[in-house]
Amino acid sequence: MIKIDNKKKVFVLDGKNYSYIIYVNEAGTLQFVYYGKKVDGDDYLTSVYAKTLAPEPNGFNIDNAFNGMPSEYAFFGKGDYRAPSTLFVREDGFRASRFVYKSHEVVDGAPDFGSLPHARRGGKTLCIVLKDELSDMEISLNYTVFDDSDVIVRNAILRNCGKNKVRLNKAFSFCLELPDAQYDIMRLQGRWAQERMPEVTPIGKGTVRVDSSQGGSSHAMNPFAAILRKTCTETSGECIGVNLIYSGSFAITAEASCFGALRLQGGINDLNFEWILDGGEKFVTPQAALCYSAEGLGGMSREFADFFRNYIINPDRAFMRRPIVINNWEATYFDFNREKLFSIIDAAAPLGIDTFVLDDGWFGKRDDDKSGLGDWFVNEKKLEGGLKGVAEHCAEKGMKFGLWFEPEMVNEDSDLYRAHPDFAIGKRGVTPSRQRNQLILDFSRKDVVDYIYDAVSKVLKSCNISYVKWDMNRFMTEFYSEKLPYERQGELAHRYILGVYDLAHRLTSAFPNVFFEGCAGGGGRFDGGMLYYFSQIWTSDDTDAFERTKIQWGTSMCYPVSAMSCHVSACPNHQTQRITPLATRGIIASLGATGYELDLTKLDDCEKEEIKRQIASYKNIDELVLRGDLYRLSSPFNSNYFCEMLVSKDKSQAYVAGERIHGVPCDLNYIIKLKGLDPNKRYTVKELGITASGKTLENAGLLLPRLPDFGAWTWNITECK
Ligand code: GLA
Repeated sequence: MIKIDNKKKVFVLDGKNYSYIIYVNEAGTLQFVYYGKKVDGDDYLTSVYAKTLAPEPNGFNIDNAFNGMPSEYAFFGKGDYRAPSTLFVREDGFRASRFVYKSHEVVDGAPDFGSLPHARRGGKTLCIVLKDELSDMEISLNYTVFDDSDVIVRNAILRNCGKNKVRLNKAFSFCLELPDAQYDIMRLQGRWAQERMPEVTPIGKGTVRVDSSQGGSSHAMNPFAAILRKTCTETSGECIGVNLIYSGSFAITAEASCFGALRLQGGINDLNFEWILDGGEKFVTPQAALCYSAEGLGGMSREFADFFRNYIINPDRAFMRRPIVINNWEATYFDFNREKLFSIIDAAAPLGIDTFVLDDGWFGKRDDDKSGLGDWFVNEKKLEGGLKGVAEHCAEKGMKFGLWFEPEMVNEDSDLYRAHPDFAIGKRGVTPSRQRNQLILDFSRKDVVDYIYDAVSKVLKSCNISYVKWDMNRFMTEFYSEKLPYERQGELAHRYILGVYDLAHRLTSAFPNVFFEGCAGGGGRFDGGMLYYFSQIWTSDDTDAFERTKIQWGTSMCYPVSAMSCHVSACPNHQTQRITPLATRGIIASLGATGYELDLTKLDDCEKEEIKRQIASYKNIDELVLRGDLYRLSSPFNSNYFCEMLVSKDKSQAYVAGERIHGVPCDLNYIIKLKGLDPNKRYTVKELGITASGKTLENAGLLLPRLPDFGAWTWNITECK
């Protein structure tokens, strides 16, 4: 709900459990007042805030800015020496700005930004227009509020209302000014095969920066950060999470000023970013989803999960039963032929697996990772009978067929590159930095996107393909486009991502029956922007059933479990060489969109039976994966147990899955208290053969099983009727 006092220019935004208050001060600037658990807006502003918190200008004239000024969108060069939200240069070189309130309106629903990912529907949006007193720039600040959510969605649109061009050097999506900085900050950092490891550090004075400048959101840092009160835990206390709905280079900064306030802001990384706005043009910044939780990190995660499922992921897919996939990558790598693929399909069909996904190596000249990317036509020499033959074989076995692409990339050893070397990002004459022997196509160019759209469409039309795995295996270097003029080269990285979104938009619209999964060398681009187009994302190339507990734990901080594609792979594991039981691998993969990625023809009958069992059990809980609430019960980072629990919204069903990391002789008793159940309902725990109330299971808990190394267990919990 949005309440506005038009006379005093006070804006109170109330979501499910939070209030967000801003107002226009006597000097005309838009200022932050409050963000937190619900308050009475009028009360707060006129008494608590006015009498105790409203900042004193510390000797500065309030007409100017100052270091403690709680700007809703910070401007530059008027006495506030902290980082601004925007920095732009007029044609005469002048770069200071002073934004004052101009107008506002409230509209139904969330704004539509075309192919730039955005909250899709629902809610109400407050749009406040600010005008720069020193130039012809205007800024619209959008706030979308949903009655059923603790996520508020923000972005900024910068408009050049004059005739002369302006150069943007920074255009963040949001700024949040908090009166004190007594927080720690969590980021999800990592690397290939170890994505999204939560790390919490104090903020201290000065700036903490969580960012990527790689042209993609990256393995190293997810476009997410949360600030945590010192008392915040998994289950209680306050935190505020920020999730950028963006897949390119980003930055989130937390700056504790010398006067004690905290400025949290973020958006497109300003490093290596410039954008020319001609007269009359506007620049739309990506959306940022902010979540306030008074119920610890767990509360924040559940709100983000609901937000993504209800407002970002394609509504036709968000709650759709996911295909259970067998992928051939770890079974064959590049070394396959028709017979090998058919044998995997034949082995998969009786197990209940419903989709075969043919991974890398089916196109162009591609027997290793040195050549072929860009040549999206089937290699019939390697794959006799082509894709059609594989699709038909799948159909005969009652299965569907999926295909791997890496649409954004090109190898120099490819027909595409030989014909169009300028299609690649980079400067001719400068040796390109290669990663995995490949270059990136210049998706800032429409002709390049058009070319790839045609090539991929042709393949998708060539036979019955129901699933696409869209991979992306390197990040940007030599940021240069042959087609952008000198003054626009700084636009490349953002234009590239807009090109990726444009292609994703066109392909997902043209092939509405194809299910798209995202991937980037594992989970190197696992973000809200990608989830807008790809309903699930390959979580990590690391499929080890212990490493995965950590990766999935971290990823669940701000994404729904249904967005995580999780496969059972072979042992010894290809990434870690670790041996874990097949049952454990199945249980850990059941906490997401489950699937398989191993050579099924090498399994014995017992193992095949085990997989059959896993798939049958998964079908009993997949609604919980799609719609349930996640409770993280025991962390693999600081205990010998990983344990998570999914609970249906009506609290009639729950699923606990856990893994004991090491077997310990004569181990102590460890009790786990279940969460999220209805205290007054009675439940049975199938595996234990017990019946107890939610109150008992939550307050007294259950003894964790004593299992050998990497042993896993499940408890299926159902309400007694
Ligand atoms: C990336 C993906 C893998 C696989 C390979 C194929 O590494 O993450 O799952 O598709 O590419 O080259």
